[in-house]
Amino acid sequence: MTSLDIRKKFIDYYTALGHAEVENASLIPANDTTTLFMGSGMQPLVPYLMGQKHPLGTRLVNVQRCLRAEDLDEIGDGRHHSFFEMLGCWSLGDYFKVEQIPWTFSFFVDELGIDPAKLYVTVFAGEDGLPRDMESAEIWRQVFAKRGIQALATEDVYKVGEGNYRIFYYPKKKNWWERNNGKAPVGDPAGPDTEIFYFTGEEHDPRFGEKCHVNCDCQRFVEIGNDVFMQYKKTGDSSYVELEQKNVDCGWGFERIVRVVQNKKDNFATDLFLPIINQIQAYSTIRYGEMSKTDWVYRLCADHLRAAVFLTGDGVLPSNKLQGYVLRRILRRVIFQSKKLHVTDNFLASVAGVVVDAYSPSYPHLLTAKPRVLTALVDEETKFTNTLDKGLKEMAKLAQKTNGKFGQPELLVLYETYGVPMELAKEICTEKGWNVV
Ligand code: ALA
Repeated sequence: MTSLDIRKKFIDYYTALGHAEVENASLIPANDTTTLFMGSGMQPLVPYLMGQKHPLGTRLVNVQRCLRAEDLDEIGDGRHHSFFEMLGCWSLGDYFKVEQIPWTFSFFVDELGIDPAKLYVTVFAGEDGLPRDMESAEIWRQVFAKRGIQALATEDVYKVGEGNYRIFYYPKKKNWWERNNGKAPVGDPAGPDTEIFYFTGEEHDPRFGEKCHVNCDCQRFVEIGNDVFMQYKKTGDSSYVELEQKNVDCGWGFERIVRVVQNKKDNFATDLFLPIINQIQAYSTIRYGEMSKTDWVYRLCADHLRAAVFLTGDGVLPSNKLQGYVLRRILRRVIFQSKKLHVTDNFLASVAGVVVDAYSPSYPHLLTAKPRVLTALVDEETKFTNTLDKGLKEMAKLAQKTNGKFGQPELLVLYETYGVPMELAKEICTEKGWNVV
């Protein structure tokens, strides 16, 4: 099944259940200054989750392009992305847990053909006076039972793999959702969530803890779905009141779902990334997958160039502030890191062309934006390539002078005179063994 098929199946499935498709909106939120980028599909829907009437009704669905710039340093590991797509569906005071949980399960199992025996779920354990979500646990138990799978619930999350435990209670840190990584503005909707994980069959990686559990960062279990039951309004740091309207906000990471359906070892091996990686390879003498030392650079470049195409496609240009700064930072990072792949020619425009070709069937606006996207990338590449060598030489000189210590004044000179973004300068320092003080 291709990624294109999966996008379509999702929209068709929820449309058949009475949902209207809402726009896959720009990465730059309209009328919302609380975040630089669209970070989840629910973001434009906040007023409607709070009770305002939506013109398309009470059941909505879409695929939303999103960008989270907080974890840029983690990209390269096979599962983190800056740009990503989220499959989302919403009940605005319409159906609730009893409908959504079986629908979620059936989409994964019946529509995408995922083996139900490989699915595990988590639910909210209760905390800070907020009740344990026993109702969702019971619905999950019944859903599994209908497929002949006995699913027991426990709050001992390390019992995974023992007996018939399949439903795990986690505290707020893992199974409570609100925007901005849990730091949503007061007045925002929030609620307990239930997450669906796929068991990959891999071994636990002890770097992430002595024992594995379903929501362990080792990724033996991949999160493929998150259904939030938005039944609260945030009134303070850790205080909430019940909303009159009980909503469902489901947000499923598209890249991970494609990985599971296409049975790949990571998201970058799917058809969402392979054409991009192949095009980068055309400029390198080092093959992807053969030199595991540089594979992360391939993944970083593929991730960042996909993000850059979507950002410029939504009208962002490299600059020194806000969204433009993030775009500049990721482009300059690609240019710097691509040296490790022995890339010598300018390659951004040709890779960006492949991104446009791969994504325009689902995002036709990219075709119209293509000339603007390519020009923006080529301009930045030309500008930065010319100054990067000088910047790196200057850093080496500075390091000698300061005995390998880089403080704010040095970082500022590098940025203002040589165009090396501070975060990139810090990364270079780490690689060279210099200290940022
Ligand atoms: N809004 C929820 C999320 O982003 C579904 O995970």
